[in-house]
Amino acid sequence: MSGPKGHPHQVPDMQGAHPGGGPQEDGGGHPAHIPGGPGSSMGGGHPTNVPGGPGYDPSAKKVWTPRLIAWEMTRSCNLDCVHCRAAARFGPYENELTTEEGKAFLKDVASFAKPIIIMTGGEPMLRDDIWELARYGTDLGLRMVMAPCGFLVTEESAQKMIDSGIMRVSFSIDGLTEESHDNFRRVPGAYASVMQAIESANKVGLDFQVNTTITKHNLHELPELLDLVVSLGAKAYHPFLLVPTGRGANLKDQEISPEDYEKTLSWFYEMREKSPIQFKPTCAPHYYRIFRQGEKEKGIAVSPETHGLDAMSKGCMGGQSFAFVGHRGEVQICGFLDVKCGDIREEPFSKVWDTSKVFKEMRAWDDYNGRCGYCEYRSKCGGCRARAYAFTEDYMDEEPFCTYQPSESAKKARDAKKAKEAAAKDEK
Ligand SMILES: C[S@@+](CC[C@H](N)C(=O)[O-])C[C@H]1O[C@@H](n2cnc3c(N)ncnc32)[C@H](O)[C@@H]1O
Ligand code: SF4
Ligand code: SF4
Repeated sequence: MSGPKGHPHQVPDMQGAHPGGGPQEDGGGHPAHIPGGPGSSMGGGHPTNVPGGPGYDPSAKKVWTPRLIAWEMTRSCNLDCVHCRAAARFGPYENELTTEEGKAFLKDVASFAKPIIIMTGGEPMLRDDIWELARYGTDLGLRMVMAPCGFLVTEESAQKMIDSGIMRVSFSIDGLTEESHDNFRRVPGAYASVMQAIESANKVGLDFQVNTTITKHNLHELPELLDLVVSLGAKAYHPFLLVPTGRGANLKDQEISPEDYEKTLSWFYEMREKSPIQFKPTCAPHYYRIFRQGEKEKGIAVSPETHGLDAMSKGCMGGQSFAFVGHRGEVQICGFLDVKCGDIREEPFSKVWDTSKVFKEMRAWDDYNGRCGYCEYRSKCGGCRARAYAFTEDYMDEEPFCTYQPSESAKKARDAKKAKEAAAKDEK
């Protein structure tokens, strides 16, 4: 299959390349080769004890564990990107979490899980206590990764990252050329700075992944961007699909059409085997539907043994294995769905994780509206709740950028399952 907009794939086959996982996993950035890492855009993952998962026990209750948490350490930023979900400005912003509040948050998380913590922003490196907090998290056994913008990454600061236990960083490259990237990031020199940052990371041996947010302006550059990212020495490449929120809400005309999404995600599926580095479409949940449809057509059963992280990852992990904590302590299912689910200044993160109404709704995908609620792939995809919200203001609605029509029998099966559950509840 050809690349997006008919581009031939130009990635040479490379031997000895890295698979990887990373600051990745969903919704907010992630690193490769993290022991036990879900391997997503700094994130990934699943609830434990899920059908098809390792050691599944049908009689046991599903346990929801955070595998990846993005912490917006500050909203201040030295870039001014057109798509920024946070609509971040240089700042400073008042009333952001203090060092002590940050430590209490990390300690609470470590008391019940050992997720990857993505230190993000804004520009996380604008915080004076960044190394102290990174070290604190590392010492608690949390896997710390960072999503800096690039301007502040020198050999010296990259070495400090390693010294404080940071396992991977993500850099964003949103255009193939200086002009294309700088126009998107709206600061002259942004491209040069990210290239400089990558050089510094390589010099000191700091693992990094590259993220790209895909819009009409760079869709045609994707195959060459993948080549570039490989040549730069990245451990992973995570293309993000635009979520029209924050300043990104003004980019609706830049959003690629559902049909182009389908083509692009099919190209991603093709790249899965050809890319020499981990290639993880992020916040593109129906990629996992396309992946499973493709393997089914080839007659290949998907399991963790044969497909590794791809078999274990779910499209949207928001509220299920991923969460976001904002700069003033607000908890969300992810940074792109601007719906407050709790506040760590009022109650511990662990309590919000277990009790938030929205988090519970995210885990009950049979109750999603429209096609996503009965789709055969709903437990592997789930549709983007933030994109649904951006279009209808109801995060339970169906993913607006998916063209798939699930079968009528899938709808009947879901309805029967819900009726059975309701009857069992009434009996109690
Ligand atoms: C939380 S950000 C990392 C923060 C960092 N300041 C940056 O922009 O690179 C993680 C990724 O999300 C991307 N992103 C931000 N706003 C987005 C949006 N509205 N839709 C899709 N991706 C977005 C960023 O470009 C970045 O690659
Ligand atoms: S209908 Fe919803 S759950 Fe099914 S593939 Fe499309 S986005 Fe995913
Ligand atoms: S709601 Fe959308 S943006 Fe948020 S984690 Fe899910 S797929 Fe990603």
